[in-house]
Amino acid sequence: MNIQILPSLLAADLAHLGDEIRRVAAAGADALHLDIMDGHFVPNLSFAPDTSALCKKYLPEGFPINTHLMMTNPDKYAGRFIEKGSTTVQFHLEMREQIDVRALASEIRAKGARVGLVVNPDTPAEVVRPYLDCADEILCMTVFPGYGGQSFIADVLPKITAIRAMAPEMDIMVDGGVNFETAELAAAAGANAFVAGSFLFKQTDMKAAIEELRARCAAAFRAS
Ligand code: DX5
Ligand code: ZN
Repeated sequence: MNIQILPSLLAADLAHLGDEIRRVAAAGADALHLDIMDGHFVPNLSFAPDTSALCKKYLPEGFPINTHLMMTNPDKYAGRFIEKGSTTVQFHLEMREQIDVRALASEIRAKGARVGLVVNPDTPAEVVRPYLDCADEILCMTVFPGYGGQSFIADVLPKITAIRAMAPEMDIMVDGGVNFETAELAAAAGANAFVAGSFLFKQTDMKAAIEELRARCAAAFRAS
């Protein structure tokens, strides 16, 4: 499968946001991961729809903006992010009782974006199964969302393998605590897409780090 590497803008130097966005594309990343926190679904706050517009302005034409809505009401905001430039909208299945997952997925696709369904570390694989037909990617959180720089939760690995068995062709992404070693573990379990914030932005040579991460993940995925 296609290995994808997505730097998370949360770990960027916010004093130089335009340069940091350009750095992601120049480093050969597959997409930019934009974390949106609402202060309700998670305790923290981060970016807003205008940040998608800013990313679009500084990225090459057509460069994907993968937008992770950590929100209790993603249905109210998905359209606004797509209008501003987001090309994938991810929302959490922990909100499945409160929002209409199928209707939101249809709306996102109708507006021309991809749908990502997200599960927290303690949400089981079986929650994903009924919605596989309305997902373009599944994001397995490998930390509890809300903050960058946390440690990878290895207990999530069997869930990745279970979802890979359910959906052999699906893009399966991990997010949280990703570095060379943890990415290899996730790839060996069946993940093919890797969000990394602090690990990639702290590199002096992000391009070399992405190349090594991609090579290691490809090898571990093939061996799985
Ligand atoms: C966590 C966010 C992640 C975060 C990852 O709430 O969803 O995308 O930026 O950061 P690192 O890679 O530093 O764990
Ligand atoms: Zn994220």
